[in-house]
Amino acid sequence: MKIFLDTADVDEIATVARWGILDGVTTNPTLFSKVGGSYDDILKRICDLTPGPVSAEVVAADADGMVEEGTHFATLAPNIVVKIPMSEPGLEAMSRLRADGIKTNCTLIFSANQGLLAAKAGASLLSPFVGRLDDINEDGMTVVRDLVAIVETHALETEVLAASIRHPRHMTEAALAGAHVATVPIGVLRKMIEHPLTTSGIEAFRRDWDAVQGAASAGSPTPPAARAPARKPPAAKRSAAKQPAKRTSKKPSRSARRR
Ligand code: E4P
Repeated sequence: MKIFLDTADVDEIATVARWGILDGVTTNPTLFSKVGGSYDDILKRICDLTPGPVSAEVVAADADGMVEEGTHFATLAPNIVVKIPMSEPGLEAMSRLRADGIKTNCTLIFSANQGLLAAKAGASLLSPFVGRLDDINEDGMTVVRDLVAIVETHALETEVLAASIRHPRHMTEAALAGAHVATVPIGVLRKMIEHPLTTSGIEAFRRDWDAVQGAASAGSPTPPAARAPARKPPAAKRSAAKQPAKRTSKKPSRSARRR
């Protein structure tokens, strides 16, 4: 499963790119409003940092306006994918952009049928919103699972992108459901990295290491960095060491004394 970062924050994108796990980025008007500035400039910077697709979302409500915005976004960088909401004008815009060779991501998908229509219209990414469905007491992951099955059954040329991911369990479930991509906020990635047993294990290893270093440096003039850690002798030597010492008395035996 590919991992996209769900943000317009360039610093977050640079951080996750350094971790070596960044496959793409999704932005939307709400995420952009959190960073401000020029959307075009931010998109160009994001595209420079990102090895894969970067979704830029249109705000027009009509097909002509969507196509115009999308055509403009596509001039900013070769890895731009135009994000278009599910709707009648959205389907028309996706279809027209596909004819122009511009990739699209159909957003705000809440049912498998919506995803099927977007795939037919030529969207290269289908974005079912898992968290927002869970918020209204529905099972968002069911839409991901159903869409993956539809795409695979009919060999549709599109990918299912699990969106509106809210917590690490969503990521595990999206991967198990066969989602081709999941887009995720950096906070969820950080929660995926952490585990209390990993944290306590790292601390214990460091504590034990430091204790050995402290003990060794107290009894030896050798600087700690130059000393090897204390090691048990090999098994053969240990068992030899357990054997009772052979008598090597130099006293002559009784018979020898009689002679
Ligand atoms: C990504 O493409 C979506 O815009 C995003 O995942 C929506 O997430 P939200 O429901 O947390 O706003």
